Amino acid sequence: MRIFIDTGSVAEVEEIAQWGVLAGATTNPSLLAKEDGDPGEIVKRICELVGGPVSAEVISDDAKGMIEEGRALRELHEHVTVKVPFSEAGLEAAHALTSDGIPVNMTLVFSPSQALLAASAGATYVSCFMGRLDDISIDSVAVVGEIVEAFRAGGVTSQIIAASIRHPEHVVAAAKLGCEIATVPAKVLRQMLNHPLTTAGAAKFKADWETRPEFAEWLKGLVEARAAAQAG
Ligand code: E4P
Repeated sequence: MRIFIDTGSVAEVEEIAQWGVLAGATTNPSLLAKEDGDPGEIVKRICELVGGPVSAEVISDDAKGMIEEGRALRELHEHVTVKVPFSEAGLEAAHALTSDGIPVNMTLVFSPSQALLAASAGATYVSCFMGRLDDISIDSVAVVGEIVEAFRAGGVTSQIIAASIRHPEHVVAAAKLGCEIATVPAKVLRQMLNHPLTTAGAAKFKADWETRPEFAEWLKGLVEARAAAQAG
């Protein structure tokens, strides 16, 4: 499963892209509305930083407006994927945009039947929202599991994005279910780093090594010898 970052913040992408774990990003109007600056410049910078698909969402309610906005958003950067909210108009727009070769991420999908319609309209990605389902006491793991099963059984090639991720367990569940992608907020990505045994283990390795000061000298010499060999 590939990991995208779910954000409108360039600073968050700058931080986390350095980890080498990001395959793409998703934005949405709510996330971009929290940021200062031109939204187009933000999307372009995120595209450069992640070097993979970056979803930018249309706002119009009607298919014609969605298609026009989608074409314009796509021209921002070659990595832009047009995010289209699920609706009758959204399906029509997704079909038109993908027929033009523009990748579409159909968003706000909450059920297997919606997901099947999105895929049938040609959506490249189908974003299934886990956290918002759990918020209304619907088991998001069961719903996403049904979507994965339905897609696999029917040979559907649209990629499933697990979205509205609230905690690391959502990410692990999405991977186990077979989602191609999880789009994860920076806060959750940082939570995924942590385990007390990792912290304690690293401290113990360091402390043990420091009981042998000559080892530090040996490692320093190894690095310097390599650098000298490369320079000369
Ligand atoms: C991603 O594509 C969605 O816009 C996002 O995951 C929504 O997350 P939220 O439910 O936390 O707003």
